Amino acid sequence: MNSTETRPSDQDHSGADVATIAMAELLDLDAEVLRTYLSELVDWLGELSDREPDHITDLGSGTGTGTLALARRFTRADVTAVDLSPQMLHLLRSKATALGLSGRVRGVWADLDQDWPRLRTSDLIWAAASLHHVTDPGRVLAAAFDNLRPGGLLAVTEMDFFPRFLPDDIGVGRHGLEARVHATLNPDPPHDWSEHLTRAGFVLEATRPFVIDLPAPLPPATARYAQVCLTRLRSALDGRLPADDLAALAAVLDHNGAHSVLRRDDLTVRTTRTTWAARRP
Ligand SMILES: C[S@@+](CC[C@H](N)C(=O)[O-])C[C@H]1O[C@@H](n2cnc3c(N)ncnc32)[C@H](O)[C@@H]1O
Repeated sequence: MNSTETRPSDQDHSGADVATIAMAELLDLDAEVLRTYLSELVDWLGELSDREPDHITDLGSGTGTGTLALARRFTRADVTAVDLSPQMLHLLRSKATALGLSGRVRGVWADLDQDWPRLRTSDLIWAAASLHHVTDPGRVLAAAFDNLRPGGLLAVTEMDFFPRFLPDDIGVGRHGLEARVHATLNPDPPHDWSEHLTRAGFVLEATRPFVIDLPAPLPPATARYAQVCLTRLRSALDGRLPADDLAALAAVLDHNGAHSVLRRDDLTVRTTRTTWAARRP
C-alpha cells in the first residue's frame, strides 16, 4: 500500500474516507453560514466581467460552493468543476442534480499539479481556497491563463484564517483564548497572490478584502460551524498552548457542558476573505 492509498479503517461504509467527509461538512457549513458574502462576491465578479460568461471553470471545487453559486448567478453559463477528489465531485454532482443544474454543471476529476485534461476555454475561472493546496501555484496559474479567453477573468479567493466565533470572555479560563489560538496557529500575515498573478501574465484588476462580521440573527448552522472549525484548530494545538487554555477549549468543545459552543448565545462570525480579480489581456 503506498502513502496515497486510503486504509479501509479510514473509510465509512460507503467507501468515502473520513477526512474527506469531515472536510465536505466544513465546506458546506462555510457555504451556508457565509452565504451573503458569497453572493456579494459573485455579483462583484459579474460587474467586473466584460460580458455574460458562457463557460466558467472552478478549480478545486470541493463540494461545489463556488460552482453552484456561479451557475445560479450566471444562468447562461456552463460550469466545469475540477477537483482531485472523486468524493467531492460526487457530492457536487448530487447537489447540482437536486438544484436542477445538472445540465449546466460538469465535474472533472483532475490533479491540478499534473497536466490538465482538455477543458473548454473559459470566460471566468474561479479558484477559492484551493491555490494554497497545490504544489506549484505558478504552474497552475499559467495553465489557468492558457484556459482563459483574452479579456476573461480569473478570481482567486483565499481566507485569512478560520473565522473568530467566541467573545473575549467565554466564562471559563483566561480572557482572550481564541485570540491566542489564532496567534499560535496563524502567526504570519496572509499571502498576497498579486505577484504570482502578474508573473503568469495576468493584469490585476482589483484586490478586494471582504471583511465579514455577521449581524444577528446568525444562521442556524453557525454553532455547528464553530464547533467543526474549533475542533480542527484543537487538533493542531497539542503542546502549543498552556494546560489552562487547553482545558478552557475542551469546555467549549464539550457537547453537553455549560460553556459548549453548541449552547452559547454569544457567538459571532468574524473573518476576512480576500479575492484577487485578474484579467487575461
Ligand atoms: C479547501 S477546499 C476548497 C473547496 C472549494 N473551492 C470551496 O471554496 O469550498 C480545497 C479543494 O481543492 C481540492 N484540491 C486540492 N489539491 C488539488 C489538486 N492538486 N488538484 C485538484 N484539486 C485539488 C481538494 O480536493 C478540495 O476539494
